[in-house]
Amino acid sequence: MDKSIEIRANVSLQPYNTLGIKAHAAQFIEVNSETQFIELLDTNTPDYILGGGSNVLLRGDVEGLIVRNNLKGKEIVHETDDMVQVRFGAGENWHECVLWAIENGYGGIENLSLIPGTIGAAPMQNIGAYGVELKDVFVELEAIHLQEKNKQIFDHTACAFGYRESVFKKELKGQFFITAVTLQLTKKNHKLNTSYGAIQTTLEKNGIQSPDIKSISGAVIQIRQSKLPDPADLGNAGSFFKNPVIPKSQFDLIKLAHPNIISYDLPDDFVKIPAGWLIEQCGWKGKRIGDAGTYKYQALVIVNHGEASGEEIWQLAQKIQQSVNDKFGIKLTPEVNVF
Ligand code: EPU
Repeated sequence: MDKSIEIRANVSLQPYNTLGIKAHAAQFIEVNSETQFIELLDTNTPDYILGGGSNVLLRGDVEGLIVRNNLKGKEIVHETDDMVQVRFGAGENWHECVLWAIENGYGGIENLSLIPGTIGAAPMQNIGAYGVELKDVFVELEAIHLQEKNKQIFDHTACAFGYRESVFKKELKGQFFITAVTLQLTKKNHKLNTSYGAIQTTLEKNGIQSPDIKSISGAVIQIRQSKLPDPADLGNAGSFFKNPVIPKSQFDLIKLAHPNIISYDLPDDFVKIPAGWLIEQCGWKGKRIGDAGTYKYQALVIVNHGEASGEEIWQLAQKIQQSVNDKFGIKLTPEVNVF
């Protein structure tokens, strides 16, 4: 076997998950190229693929083989006067690619600034923030099937994107290793999205009269830094739960008992409720049990104050689910992948 695919045993995963959980992998390998991955498949079957580790809760040690996707590269594969299609290696850091796009004058992902994680993880959960989702700029992705060992192309439809969802979190969970993602970005006439009140207020505060992709990115970075903890300072995986979507009829009943409830109307008589609000109403904001807690400025973010185990984080998450269910009759679903 090529020395470059040497598998390491009993590796600490603490540097590889942003919650900073001290779990170990029985076997671990960092993969830097497609060839290396295909070679690995000749003799091994990965049990879990890790990107930036920013959307995962490791409940304990992992028995099998963890593969960390470290495939790099940025390549313009198609270009017109108006747009570029860029193929990014799946192991590239998402935010660095956003900054690269902005430096080159490419628009479309500035609202997704500062989202932790990798390019390859972005389509898996259809990352989204401040009115923009990955699916809005997505062209296609390339992925290697772990059993069939061949490369397949997934277009927009094949990915079946939903709110923080894709086919890779559902039917095809654990079956593919994403190697590259192609995004379509604008070169001019950028579709600026300042629909979020917080973006408008921040731009005004910054004295920006005519926003561009750079000032919007700057505003998003400021907003995120003010309410989301930096994993380098305080372990976390962003929003721990999804914002629940319930039928309007159920919402109307809840509103009778809780007139201050915050909600966003969706098509077909559905309503989305911010999970952070529900959790705060249950008294969990800024609370901690041992080293597991919720963030003081955003109750939807579960944090590790230092020594929390994955199981302790999971216990807290379940307590939160239970309180929200008891008080509002709403079941919160984790947004992070619980492993
Ligand atoms: N709120 C509270 N208490 C809290 C937290 C929030 O009352 O502790 C209220 C806020 O005041 C606001 C509403 O809930 O009225 C929504 O809060 P926020 O704007 O912070 O957004 P969110 O719905 O909690 C979602 C995404 C974030 C994304 C932001 C901005 C999900 C699960 N989360 O959060 O994504 O950055 O909108 O678009 O959809 C992530 O997925 O990891 C993530 C951080």
